[in-house]
Amino acid sequence: MMSDMIVIPGPASRELGKLVASELGVEPHPADHRIFPDGESYIRLTAPVQDETVILVQTTAPAPDQKLLQLLMMAGTANDLGADRIVCVVPYLAYSRQDKRFMEGEALSLDVVVGLFESLGVGDLIVVDAHSEESLRTIEERHEVKVTNLSAIPTLAGELLQRGFGGAYSLSPDKGAIRLAKAGAGVLGGDSGFFEKTRDRRTGEIEMRVRDLDIGGGRAVVFDDIISSGGTMARAVEGLKAQGAEKVAAACTHALFMEGAKERIEKAGADLIIASDTVNGGICDVTVTVAPLIAESLRELLSN
Ligand code: R5P
Repeated sequence: MMSDMIVIPGPASRELGKLVASELGVEPHPADHRIFPDGESYIRLTAPVQDETVILVQTTAPAPDQKLLQLLMMAGTANDLGADRIVCVVPYLAYSRQDKRFMEGEALSLDVVVGLFESLGVGDLIVVDAHSEESLRTIEERHEVKVTNLSAIPTLAGELLQRGFGGAYSLSPDKGAIRLAKAGAGVLGGDSGFFEKTRDRRTGEIEMRVRDLDIGGGRAVVFDDIISSGGTMARAVEGLKAQGAEKVAAACTHALFMEGAKERIEKAGADLIIASDTVNGGICDVTVTVAPLIAESLRELLSN
């Protein structure tokens, strides 16, 4: 049986937190929040948390440092006020990409972030499409924090199925992300593959092409975990159109969408841009919610 819980949406995930609470059939208790004139955050928990299982829902983009600190303050406060168990739902976990020390002296950012959660009494983290499952597991071994990594790709693909992309080719922008394309293909039913990058020696231009798949005339979907500047996705869409794809959808879990990203992808020829609601402010054609996915994971976690 699932234990009782207090769901607290943070300022960065008000809507998603409320949706998660509604899926779980409980009342949300949004944290009180404001920004001081100097940019510091004020946080106050509005529900009694002593001896409770506390679920904090807060994404960490845009403005990752600020959003992360707000979440850490929520966790630290719940811990200080005697919460029995603290679960942080961090739909987009910032710093997931900085998971290895490539040069001497570099910060292992993901390790630092997970260590901070641990030091504040957080026992569980639920994240969505973390950049590297492998790094997550390596970091997890160094801390007393259990990390559950969910994927929004089947939900995105399910929506695309409704929108005429059944049987489409599912692609990832590189070989390392092929798991995303395979997950998409599992729902859409078509073939899957990945892009190979080639650089024109004369112009230095990068071209992205799919080999071993005859895209001509077909529909295709590019699945990525993050769209930030939109450069990667734009190149992929362009490559598919150049290979004769009839319709191309650009799909991602985390729509960071820095200035001009959507226009870049549209200009490349994308027919549809779809993302999940792990970060707010996504300006996509279609947004699907990960609330049911998160609620299901919480149900499972809390019934153990
Ligand atoms: C890279 O490894 C990620 O999976 C994304 O492809 C990347 O972060 C996208 O960035 P941008 O939109 O700036 O090309």
